[in-house]
Amino acid sequence: MCGIVGYVGQRSVQEILLAGLEKLEYRGYDSAGISIQGDQGLGVVRAVGNLSALKAAVAEQANGDGGVAVLAPPATTGIGHTRWATHGRVTEENAHPHYDPDNRVHVVVNGIVENYMELKTELQDQGAHFSSETDVEVIAHLIALDLDEHGLVEATRRTYNRLRGHYSFVAQSSAEPGTLVGARKECPLIVGRGEDEQFLASGIPAFLAHTRTAQALEDDELVVLTAEGAQFMTADGVAFERETHEIDWDADAAEKGGFETFMLKEIHEQADAVAETIADRTVRPDGVDLPELDDELLRGVKRIIVVACGTSYHAGLIGRYAIEEWARVPVETDVASEFRYRNPVVGPGDVVIGITQSGETLDTLAAMRLARERGATVIAVTNIMGSQATRDADATVYTRAGLEIGVAATKTFVAQVAVMYLLALRLAEVKGTLDDERRTELVTRLKRIPHDIGAMLERGTEKIDLVAERHYAKDFFLYLGRHVGLPVGLEGALKLKEISYIATDAYAAGEMKHGPIALLDQDTPVVVVATDSPVLEKVISNMQEVRVRGAHVIAVVSEGADLGEHAAEALVVPQTDWMLQPLLAVIPLQLLAYRIARLRGLNVDQPRNLAKTVTVE
Ligand code: G6P
Repeated sequence: MCGIVGYVGQRSVQEILLAGLEKLEYRGYDSAGISIQGDQGLGVVRAVGNLSALKAAVAEQANGDGGVAVLAPPATTGIGHTRWATHGRVTEENAHPHYDPDNRVHVVVNGIVENYMELKTELQDQGAHFSSETDVEVIAHLIALDLDEHGLVEATRRTYNRLRGHYSFVAQSSAEPGTLVGARKECPLIVGRGEDEQFLASGIPAFLAHTRTAQALEDDELVVLTAEGAQFMTADGVAFERETHEIDWDADAAEKGGFETFMLKEIHEQADAVAETIADRTVRPDGVDLPELDDELLRGVKRIIVVACGTSYHAGLIGRYAIEEWARVPVETDVASEFRYRNPVVGPGDVVIGITQSGETLDTLAAMRLARERGATVIAVTNIMGSQATRDADATVYTRAGLEIGVAATKTFVAQVAVMYLLALRLAEVKGTLDDERRTELVTRLKRIPHDIGAMLERGTEKIDLVAERHYAKDFFLYLGRHVGLPVGLEGALKLKEISYIATDAYAAGEMKHGPIALLDQDTPVVVVATDSPVLEKVISNMQEVRVRGAHVIAVVSEGADLGEHAAEALVVPQTDWMLQPLLAVIPLQLLAYRIARLRGLNVDQPRNLAKTVTVE
């Protein structure tokens, strides 16, 4: 989830790159950098922090204070990057652009190279020296190795074919001035066509001020840009033509990637969020790699306590089911503000997992600190590199959802759930509680989830829109679920109340008869998570209990399941392993909440009274 931009043309490239990066800053602001093709070869300036730090560094260079003779105008070709750190800390060395040791090839990359360790070791065996801790520096090294023999375009194509993962990148070389080569696999990359100038970026806002004529790259495609035009080719080297299209977004729509709100955009980024989070951690077919966590520590775990707030707490609840089922380690889950004030029994031998998207939620940090003071080992699960949670923990496992702007968490939630599955699978492998076959099955299923999410979102939201229209004026919704369907229900109910201000209750379906059933009347919409699981029959019984009282069942069901007679409305999700189902089942519930809030005319990105990060008690 980084922003990348490239320009080749007639104008001074620095300003164009910096202005383009400004429009992409929402994609990450840990560090930024640009590289331009100057008279004396490629020059790079990078800086930790947001764009203003880069601008200051560029200004210093221009005044001649910098060490490298770089940004000598009038350069007219270059690339830029704004980083959302995933591999490697937030340092200048890890900022993009990255380059080979001879400074002949510079690259900016968005995404993750899964097989970078293998490639890095191979290059190191040949004597290569790496200047960063990132996974993507290998790209610059590999292109440089083939440059003399094959030229930039072919060297980039060959390199592309050696990579595995989820990325887009742009490369340039001092050997071929006035040329940029872009490549895409599962991360966006769009060409902007101008007159005698061309643009390349991970997001249209980067070039919207200059052109509205665009050409999108698809997976396994490359593009070669010169001032005169763009030539496309497949990863197999076959040239082809790509139609142009005109962009009719205004600046506001552009920032939201063409979506009407950030929340909707982020809901649609969930396939990416899961894909990036699991990418290089699921390279082995039969297991998960989490080098962040020490095997000895995992082998010795006797008890796990998860502490978190809000949506992150719901991710923890799902993690509990997975860890207990697969790794047979007892797990307790607690909202952080309760844990810290109840004099918890916690100490050496316990592992406490603090889940916090922002890494700054005060209650979660306090709970983690308390646990650590009492001798527990603390693991942070967070989306923000270098956040306070990472400093208060013994180890950190990052989610890689990219920056989330909508106050109601969506893509960070699925990324957290994915991390909990990774943790559970790693633990199960280390402890030997799941056989190879089952582990392989689960890893395979998990790797399919991004595809399933993408397919589900592509199918459209017609059914959800209908349900929303029917019920948006209601003043109460009940949510029910069992097993992992329960936290999904809790999260669905939280989403609805957060952004639509409708009262909701979420209950374990089996508990309904002990209270909430009294709330049901002809009008009550009851959302039931009824996806495939060993407890589905029990859930169906609960649906019947609701129906006979005249209430309205809206069920989330697995594809192929015929629950028609039990539900008034069915929202269908793809089938997967029952334990992994929350990653799919939550999406129609996010969308339902979203549509209802929009129909009520509300600002979903900034709901009243709520804050994205809560740094007070
Ligand atoms: C706030 C946000 C929620 C979030 C919760 C925990 O309430 O509005 O979306 O789930 O804080 O935040 P954290 O950053 O710790 O995950």
